[in-house]
Amino acid sequence: MSAQGPVIVIAPLPSVLPRGRERVELQRDHARRAVRRSALAQNAPRLALRKNVDEVPQPDQGWHWSLSHSPSRVAGVVSPSRVGVDVEEARAVRADMIDRILDEREKALFEERGEDGFLRTWTGKEALLKEFGVGLQALSRCRIERVDADTLELRFDGQRRVVYQRFFPDHVVSICSQDSSEPRYEVWDAPLAPSEERAP
Ligand SMILES: CC(C)(COP(=O)(O)OP(=O)(O)OC[C@H]1O[C@@H](n2cnc3c(N)ncnc32)[C@H](O)[C@@H]1OP(=O)(O)O)[C@@H](O)C(=O)NCCC(=O)NCCS
Repeated sequence: MSAQGPVIVIAPLPSVLPRGRERVELQRDHARRAVRRSALAQNAPRLALRKNVDEVPQPDQGWHWSLSHSPSRVAGVVSPSRVGVDVEEARAVRADMIDRILDEREKALFEERGEDGFLRTWTGKEALLKEFGVGLQALSRCRIERVDADTLELRFDGQRRVVYQRFFPDHVVSICSQDSSEPRYEVWDAPLAPSEERAP
């Protein structure tokens, strides 16, 4: 593990949001502010936030980046290692969805801890899939091997990752990086302003 993990920036969206396309644009804009704020916090250069034809974020000047938007919160990160971040809001889920995300052995790992594990698994596996730049079709190749208070140990195609998780009253944020380094968090209680230069 590296001594200095990436800085992950987490911020709320404005409480009043436009509808439809404009809402999506605003979420994406705020998530990109979080990525730029993460770059600033790590003295990284200003990155061209480009994606390939499969929507996978492309590294720039040796820096990787990832972002996530939920209906009320965004997260963004840059890192010298490959990285994936995911933020998910707690919600009611159907049993068939739970079975799609967690197998019996994984369910047992959470049951031992008195947790249902759904949200943690969902966001943890998404963060890993984003780090690898693959989509949900790869979900079945991703297995949880160990569950701790704020980490999950995952295996994907023979590779091991530690996914770090941060809990909010109605959200979980997960981060997965190539070197399994422990992230540092910059959590905002107000939406990020257009200028990413603003001090926290
Ligand atoms: C493509 C996917 C990564 C989108 O995830 P999401 O939770 O819906 O959306 P998020 O806001 O967290 O992430 C979207 C961002 O991920 C990035 N992204 C998209 N595809 C990606 C990929 N293959 N690899 C890495 N990053 C990707 C993009 O930057 C995108 O944001 P942008 O369009 O504003 O640039 C994918 O995992 C998905 O379709 N998820 C649907 C939800 C689901 O069924 N999850 C199962 C639980 S494991």
